[in-house]
Amino acid sequence: MQTHEIRERFINHFVKAGHTEVPSASLILDDPNLLFVNAGMVPFKPYFLGEQNPPFPNGTATSIQKCVRTLDIEEVGITTRHNTFFQMAGNFSFGQYFKEGAISNAWSLLTNSVADGGFGLDPERLWVTVYLDDDEAAAIWHEKIGIPEERIQRLGMADNYWSMGIPGPCGPCSEIYYDRGEAYGEFGGPVVDDTRYIELWNLVFMQNERGEGTGKDSFEIVGPLPKKNIDTGMGVERVACILQGVENVYETDLLAPVITVAEQLTGATYGRSETLAKAGDTTSAAYHAAHTEDIRFRVIADHCRTGLMLILDGVTPGNEGRGYILRRLLRRIIRSARLLGATGVTMEKLMDTVRATMTPSYPEIADNWERIRAVAVGEETAFLKTLESGTRLFEDAAAKVKASAGTILDGDAAFTLHDTHGFPIDLTVEMAAESGLTVDTEAFDARMAEQKARAKADNRAKKHAHADVSVYRPFVDNHATVFLGYGATETEGRILGLVAGGALVDRAGEGSKVQVILDQTPFYAESGGQLADRGTISGPGGVAAVEDVQKTGKKVWLHNVTVTGGELAVGDTVTATVDHTWRHQARQAHSGTHLIHAALRQVLGPTAVQAGSMNRPGYLRFDFSYGEQLTADQLRRIELIANEAVDTDYTVNTIETSLDEAKAMGAMALFGENYGTQVRVVEIGGPFSMELCGGIHVSHSSQIGPVTVLGESSVGSGVRRIEAYTGVDSFRFLADQHRVSSALSSRFRVPVEEVPERVESISARLHEMEKRITQFRTAELSAKVGDYVMRAATVGDLRVVAARVPDGISGGDLRTLANEAKGRVGSEPAVAFFISADPESGKVPFIAAATDAAVALGVSAGEIVKAVAPYVGGRGGGKPAMAQGSGSDAAGIDAAVAAVRGIVEQSVAG
Ligand code: ALA
Repeated sequence: MQTHEIRERFINHFVKAGHTEVPSASLILDDPNLLFVNAGMVPFKPYFLGEQNPPFPNGTATSIQKCVRTLDIEEVGITTRHNTFFQMAGNFSFGQYFKEGAISNAWSLLTNSVADGGFGLDPERLWVTVYLDDDEAAAIWHEKIGIPEERIQRLGMADNYWSMGIPGPCGPCSEIYYDRGEAYGEFGGPVVDDTRYIELWNLVFMQNERGEGTGKDSFEIVGPLPKKNIDTGMGVERVACILQGVENVYETDLLAPVITVAEQLTGATYGRSETLAKAGDTTSAAYHAAHTEDIRFRVIADHCRTGLMLILDGVTPGNEGRGYILRRLLRRIIRSARLLGATGVTMEKLMDTVRATMTPSYPEIADNWERIRAVAVGEETAFLKTLESGTRLFEDAAAKVKASAGTILDGDAAFTLHDTHGFPIDLTVEMAAESGLTVDTEAFDARMAEQKARAKADNRAKKHAHADVSVYRPFVDNHATVFLGYGATETEGRILGLVAGGALVDRAGEGSKVQVILDQTPFYAESGGQLADRGTISGPGGVAAVEDVQKTGKKVWLHNVTVTGGELAVGDTVTATVDHTWRHQARQAHSGTHLIHAALRQVLGPTAVQAGSMNRPGYLRFDFSYGEQLTADQLRRIELIANEAVDTDYTVNTIETSLDEAKAMGAMALFGENYGTQVRVVEIGGPFSMELCGGIHVSHSSQIGPVTVLGESSVGSGVRRIEAYTGVDSFRFLADQHRVSSALSSRFRVPVEEVPERVESISARLHEMEKRITQFRTAELSAKVGDYVMRAATVGDLRVVAARVPDGISGGDLRTLANEAKGRVGSEPAVAFFISADPESGKVPFIAAATDAAVALGVSAGEIVKAVAPYVGGRGGGKPAMAQGSGSDAAGIDAAVAAVRGIVEQSVAG
């Protein structure tokens, strides 16, 4: 049974039983504690905790949730059980059915015949576990379902008490296992062997709330949840293994094709270690080599799928957080393929295979394919550039450590690998482990911290991201700030709190910098790329300038102010006023960003996906993933489309709606949203531009004013940036440009549009002239050579020509001169020395040449150059017949010239 069908049967089974089908949430939810969604219940957390009412008619739901767990990436492939991506099929009851309903629903799906819509598993092969004291669940399994007591086992907290690993809902659970038979291990049920008995389904009786703590079994139970709920998770891939009769997920229809393609790309063969193991060899060197290769194949297959699904949900490779994980996965794929023998690029073919296996269940992959491909291939291109040099650096460093009988690779090497060669630190650690070394990660972290500190030094004061946020906690929990800024720029409010230096204070006097927390505010807090509003807060006792506004806990606005007169005190009723011009221009810039985004997609197509944006009054920048540089023509079209949209004077509407509705409308940027979330859609001109956005916008597009694109540049692998001005800043920029071009036009006496051509032709002529001047000068000089030779001094029969030639003669021209001089004296013994100064570069080039006859007398041009160099603060050297040098002190030129004769005398005498 194909995986896709397993999914369908699951959903049908629970929909028939009255559950609402809920589509998988994005892997990225707006939860700071969670890097990725890692269980089916995550999107439903507020319903379990009683924070929200479940919007499902029967209070029950079913879903197949995409999950990513990346705690132990390095374990992937070593065994066949770890996967970073998997699909969790679940059914959820919010205060409706409890243990009995969960157990009987799961049982019927697993054991009903295939003809009946079930999975047709043999009931005799199913075992279950329950939590230590959960007699109730044990009784249901035995009495209602009929499982013999010996196949019901009890386990403790670590195995049979489920929580998210962080504070939240939790409860005892009961797990269902499938016995794969003797070939897989010992008899005795899951407590004895969890390879032979493979876990298929976890039924969690969600009834308590857990507090802080660590691990799976050391946390406090804070108290009961408002209701008794059910959360279950069936591993879709695990069931696929059983139903497809294969040993592990790498052999299922989802991953086997990826391994086949990896074999073709690398020339290696998967599965050789299994074959050897079956023949009884698990210790030979050949076995270890084969096992290492098999691990690499599994790494490729697992990571490709996870990588594709993460990119699908909007993650792009980066150096922090989610982006870092993605980068690490992709770079592990690339390195594994290389180590298996691949020599060229592999990413596109691998990803394309994952696309084929996953699209039946996730049709949205097809719509996003171009973008996914571009991101993955971009990362490969970037990494391949430095993989080899980095590997060499690593090998050298590792060899040095070993040569000195050490075991630790220093932090500097790891830092260079990261910083210059793009090796994620974990990759370096892995490579070190492969060669029996460890990495001084503390030193690495210290280097990273230094680098970060430097980069953030000027930003730090502004943000509060790394501050201790506990001081804000009571406000976040009890006093969310009411934001009135969509409709107003001036409102009354009450000061609920003042924070200075991370601590609460009652009052703040003139000159102090504090954070003001108001019950309500018109100030926009920085988010979604839009900078915070500026303005003032004035109360009965004083006034303050608002310099920045940030949100904490997403709910409380922190106004960073400087008190400019009098004092502010907690409890004051104040007037909060947003600077009118600031707000006006900020709106222009933000709406302008949406126009640029829309225009960009018209011109470049849907693969140009937003990767970030920033807008402040009058200026915007927009980052997007795109593989190549934009042409001048593309930029011009983007600018034109944006300005036509301004000119059309579209109405700007904001619509509060459900996520589904927004999707149906075709709104962009749907990452990280959850089922049932209310979203805000900003629409400029109907289909022209529709985006999910919480920012502040103009009400008609003409209010944006002119949009002037400044240019386009690269900001990292596969990401490009467009910058533009809006409104009066745009005008100011254009007016300045106009002034410059008018001045040029009148200076050159041509119409403005002909200026570039004129400048081009002038600089071509200039270049030509310079060339000719040089030619003249050289000709003139060689004519002079005769004079220099005539005026030569003599040392015995030897003629010594030593002269300072005019300034600006290059080293190359000096060489021509010297050869010329040698030519003039023919076979006689003679030495020539020329020196010049270049006032522009400050350099003092010099040259010496000796004829063969002079060399025979013991003269060496090389010696001469070496001996005079110190006079002009320089260095030089060469052969006895010809040598050159360069100095930097023109003041010593005359002394250098004067010294030549003496040097020659000495050589001849010696
Ligand atoms: N939430 C449970 C799990 O992830 C079902 O195993």
